[in-house]
Formats: sequence, C-alpha cells, structure tokens
Amino acid sequence: MAIDKRFVDQLAFVTSKAALASSYHIGKKNKIAADKAAVDSMRNELNKMNIQGKIVIGEGELDEAPMLYIGEKVGTNEGPNFDIAVDPLEGTNFAANNLPGALSVIAIGEKNSLFNAPETYMEKISARVSEKNVIDLDYSVRQNIFNLSDYLNKKPENLTACILDRPRHKEIIDELIKLKVNLKLITDGDVSGALLVTEEKYNVDIFLGIGGGPEGVLAAAALDAFNCNFQGRFIFETDNDKARAKNMGINNLTKKYELNEIVTSDSIFCATGITSGDLVAGIKIQDNIFISETLVTHKSSGLKKVIKLKQNL
Ligand code: FBP
Repeated sequence: MAIDKRFVDQLAFVTSKAALASSYHIGKKNKIAADKAAVDSMRNELNKMNIQGKIVIGEGELDEAPMLYIGEKVGTNEGPNFDIAVDPLEGTNFAANNLPGALSVIAIGEKNSLFNAPETYMEKISARVSEKNVIDLDYSVRQNIFNLSDYLNKKPENLTACILDRPRHKEIIDELIKLKVNLKLITDGDVSGALLVTEEKYNVDIFLGIGGGPEGVLAAAALDAFNCNFQGRFIFETDNDKARAKNMGINNLTKKYELNEIVTSDSIFCATGITSGDLVAGIKIQDNIFISETLVTHKSSGLKKVIKLKQNL
C-alpha cells in the first residue's frame, strides 16, 4: 500500500526543525549537545504527528538512549502504523566542527517494513544501476569496477568511487588507485556518501566500504526511490553484537541483504541540511525566519527532489 503523500511535508517539517535545533550548536566543538538538540526536537515533533510510529532505527537501545530508542513509540497513537528510522544528527563531527555535510535524517515505511538494524558496522555497496549482478558485495573490487565500467560505458579512469577514509579501507583504496579510479574520500557521513550515486551531477559512480548499519538502512530507503542498487551485510564481531542480532531476530549473521529485503514497503525519506553539503544547503537564519533545504523521496509517487522551506523561528 502507498503511504499518503501528506506525510512527506510533515516529515520534511520534522527534519527541518531538528536541523534548526542542531544548527545552534554548529562549530561549538560539542557533538553531544548538537546531537541532543536534534534528538529532542525530532522526538517532540514526531509526537505531534497523527501516527502510530515505532522507532526501529534510533539512538540506541533504551538503557543507552532515553530518547528515540529502538522500540520507542512516537506519535499521537491515532493514524497509520509506521516503522521509523531516524538519525537526527548524521555527521556529529561535521556539526561540532562546522564542516560541510551534517544532516538530519528520517525514513518511514509501513509497519514491519524497515529492517531492524542493530548498531553495528555494515559492509555496503551502491551504484546507479537498475540491473542485478553488475555490482555485488561478493565480487572483488576489480570485478565491480570492470562490470560498472561496461555497464556505464565509461573507462575505469573516468569512474569515481566514494568511500569513507578509514584505515580499514586501505586494501580497497589501494585497489581503486591501481585501477586508476578517481576517489571521493569522505571523512564521515556515509548516508550522504551512498546517495551521491543517485544522480550524475554528483559525479560519483559507486559507493562502497564499511560504515554504520543504521546509516545503511536509511540510505537504502532513499536509494529505493531512485531505482539504484544497494546491498548491505552486517558485521557482527563481538559476542555481544551476535547476541543482540539474535535478539532482533537475525539468525543468519553473514547474510547479504538486497535493497528490497531492507525496505519492503513504500517509503518516505527526508534529509535536511544542518551545514551545507553535497546534497543540500545548511540552515540559514535571516531576521525572524529560517530557511532549510530537504532532500525528500517518496517511492510510490516517484517524488525525489530538494524542497526549500522558509519558516518562522
Ligand atoms: P555520527 O553522526 O554518529 O558521528 O556518524 C558519522 C559516521 O561517519 C556515519 O555516517 C558512518 O556510517 C559512521 O560514522 C562510520 O563510523 P566510523 O567513524 O566508526 O568509521
């Protein structure tokens, strides 16, 4: 069933308010305060919506996160049932250090339709391809690049790969350099990184590497609307990770998930800029108003655009 389009505007309002709240902490070197402001605002606004929402991806589990914890119910308890994935401040370093790319992000799907992802790392890959078997987590970097090169009819030296700049990615990065692929190394913010494959204007052809699992589910919700490919595989290292996964009903700990297994219904995704980045501009305050830019997608209506809102402070 399709999710009513009116929720697009309501959710863009929620993320714009959270982005505004967090924006007061830009450049204050305090990640926790910037995050808390976004979380408090998002929770407050979600609780005004006429929905029966359940947080499936949030700020952690109840004992570690008093607000927007996994399993928390939000909304007035009247209206449709939704699964909700939130990252009120994606890129805490970006906000704290006044760097480009901090976002406030939300995705919703019908009840039981968003993957209940534990807070562990996830191996991810995405590209602007609609066919299967072009990119795959089980292929080598080389094979993925050669397949993509054929598919897009671009030489490897004309392809760009986005990846988090982390020591754990040394082998992948070395291989990409050997293949003469251009790199877009990001210091944080892999929701945005994964979404750079959605449109040619971003000049990124493939996103790959290991980042947060919750961020993977959020990115998948948007990628679904763009008809892009995404695969994710959780990495459960410690016994605690494995136990938490089992508690969440994940029995096969090494399974590779396709996009349509991560998001199984219609979905809406909203990401508002806190600081300006590749996808959207950050919050601007002028006199008594604030201006926000939000990337919104709604799979069933085919909506995917940046909406600019001017609201009273
Ligand atoms: P925060 O907003 O929680 O700081 O996360 C930023 C981020 O870069 C994510 O986008 C990414 O998935 C994750 O951290 C990568 O984790 P790590 O910094 O441990 O490599």
